[in-house]
Amino acid sequence: MSDLVPRLVPVSGLDTDPEGIARFDAWAGVLVDVARHEQGEDHDAWSAQELREMEASPSKRRLQVLAVVGGEAVGAAGVIAPLRDNPTVCWVVVAVLPGHRRRGLGDRLLGWAHERARELGRTTLHAETEWTADTDRDPQGPWVERHGFVLAQRVLRSDLLVASAELPGAPVAPGYRLETHVDAMPETDLADRAVLARRMSTDAPLGDLELEEEQWDEERVRGEDERTRAMGRRVVSTFARDLASGRLVGYTSIQVPQDAPHLAFQHDTLVLREHRGHGLGLALKVANLRALADGVPDVRTVRTWNAATNTHMLAVNTAMGFRVGARVSQWQKHLPRAGAPRAEPPGRPGPTLGA
Ligand SMILES: CC(C)(COP(=O)(O)OP(=O)(O)OC[C@H]1O[C@@H](n2cnc3c(N)ncnc32)[C@H](O)[C@@H]1OP(=O)(O)O)[C@@H](O)C(=O)NCCC(=O)NCCS
Repeated sequence: MSDLVPRLVPVSGLDTDPEGIARFDAWAGVLVDVARHEQGEDHDAWSAQELREMEASPSKRRLQVLAVVGGEAVGAAGVIAPLRDNPTVCWVVVAVLPGHRRRGLGDRLLGWAHERARELGRTTLHAETEWTADTDRDPQGPWVERHGFVLAQRVLRSDLLVASAELPGAPVAPGYRLETHVDAMPETDLADRAVLARRMSTDAPLGDLELEEEQWDEERVRGEDERTRAMGRRVVSTFARDLASGRLVGYTSIQVPQDAPHLAFQHDTLVLREHRGHGLGLALKVANLRALADGVPDVRTVRTWNAATNTHMLAVNTAMGFRVGARVSQWQKHLPRAGAPRAEPPGRPGPTLGA
């Protein structure tokens, strides 16, 4: 085969030999370069170290391939299949370096992803595109649509400059207490945290994305916390406790990559339905941002993602000083069922791009 015809080389973040490590670094490097091209220098692509830790999680299986032309890494693709829940769903990632686009490589990588999805018995594919221009016109939309994906949800990405944040007074309603933890939370709260994580998976707006409730227990929470630490991320979380029952009923958390601490990422924010309407959401976010500013002062920007339909959360964010900086489309495609889904292929336990 000519060395100008792309070769697709499987890569794994679990490889420990020098060549395997270099291949995985090249794969993660393509994702970073493409994110830089689409989003600019303040992109939010995962680092190779973060991706390796995610692949070690038993909650998701991850398959990845690197496209190589003439010895140069030019494209990357991945399939992420949840293993504890959502057995027919997977996320698909395809990225081609700008100088190698419009030559059929994206199509080929997506074809690879479709084959892996079928092998894993996945018939619902999800994908994301992201752009920073202040327009609803998604530059990658036509490519995704021509492959049969349908827009399932629009998401807004917003940034808060910590130095100019206007944090409103947000008193805690009677009957509740806020508790903040940096990096670790008490073991005794892990069961409540698992309930919150399970509810978070379906209480946040999902648009038309077909996703069932995620299965969380103490062991999964503990494992994901350990992995977040191993990824080199600090975590600042604030919880709301219902004093009558003693149970945690809401939480919000922010992660900070230790090797790039200027840009922090807002993760889940949830108040259980039966405790909404008391201002707990705003109180949690304000308390957590204050704790972040005190505990991890290197953070300059906090980045968050919200469904465009989540007007309440967007209004809260705007009041605090968050400003929209990018847009994300979430896409869904159904593959025709080819008989019964096949069983999980044998091999090392794997998973994900987002634990
Ligand atoms: C989307 C992406 C993967 C396409 O890669 P690519 O290698 O340029 O795609 P291909 O060359 O295989 O495209 C195949 C066809 O789609 C067309 N096409 C590609 N990108 C397009 C776009 N943005 N708008 C319209 N048509 C597009 C090509 O012209 C080609 O058409 P043709 O066969 O009629 O000539 C690439 O632009 C990329 O990496 N984008 C950033 C990451 C991303 O958004 N990925 C998609 C979601 S996972």
